[in-house]
Amino acid sequence: MSEKLSVNKCLFPVAGYGTRFLPATKSMPKEMLPVVNKPLIQYAVEEAMEAGVSKMGFITGRGKRAIADYFDNNYELETEIAGSSKFDKLADINHVMNNGQFIFMRQRAMLGLGHAILTGEAIIGREPFAVILADDLCVAPLEQDPSAPTPRAMAQLVELYNKFHCCIVAIEEVPKEETGSYGIISGVEIEPGIYDVSDMVEKPKPEDAPTNMAIIGRYVLTPEIFDYLKETKPGTNGEIQITDALKQVAKEQRVIAVKFEGQRFDCGSIPGFVEATNYFYEHEFKG
Ligand code: G1P
Repeated sequence: MSEKLSVNKCLFPVAGYGTRFLPATKSMPKEMLPVVNKPLIQYAVEEAMEAGVSKMGFITGRGKRAIADYFDNNYELETEIAGSSKFDKLADINHVMNNGQFIFMRQRAMLGLGHAILTGEAIIGREPFAVILADDLCVAPLEQDPSAPTPRAMAQLVELYNKFHCCIVAIEEVPKEETGSYGIISGVEIEPGIYDVSDMVEKPKPEDAPTNMAIIGRYVLTPEIFDYLKETKPGTNGEIQITDALKQVAKEQRVIAVKFEGQRFDCGSIPGFVEATNYFYEHEFKG
């Protein structure tokens, strides 16, 4: 049964234009924007690795080659700085490169997040998989029990997947006036912070939103999602929405939503990006 397989692959939809960061993103992918000294996409890949994932599938587009180059050797640079302390600055990215496999596929037309995920079917096949949207940058809770530290969001989702063997989405409460930026769920709380989803709606106006529980960019999906996506018609903004496909899964099978522990920065927006930069400078870089 495919559903009993463990989560070993993660898709990173990275084809978007990043228009909110123009002009910076005119000739470089938004996922390469650094929070302090590390690109957003590396934080995302590290979070996937922490969750036990080793195969990283990037759904990329034109103008995104810098991402593929980033997860490859740069012999000229490495030779230049070999033997100096500067080489140590590559330790984290080298660790990632040595412990993962990186697969790149082009999404030829921007038809929505659901379409990007469906493009990844050729990478995933019939097994459960993770999806991380790199512009939602997640950190583990600051207050940790050293004997049992809480990991970042994706490892929390994978743990739930291993319990429920169904699609899992991460959620957080947002101010009601912001529902129009998110997929919004409603459901029944079955354990503290864990919901059996009954309905989902993509980017509703505040007055139409059933709740203020917003999906953030972390999903564990079962391969049946591809069958649903193939039947999903364009929705909000004329795009094929993963939220619409998941709504159908929730009706016919099961979707669990979890208020993950930790913090999320909306690095798709300039205020969120600045907040993340300050956070990482304060808590990781300076120390
Ligand atoms: C996407 C999803 C949305 C989700 C959000 C999280 O929207 O479509 O359901 O709430 O990511 O960041 P986007 O931000 O790509 O417009």
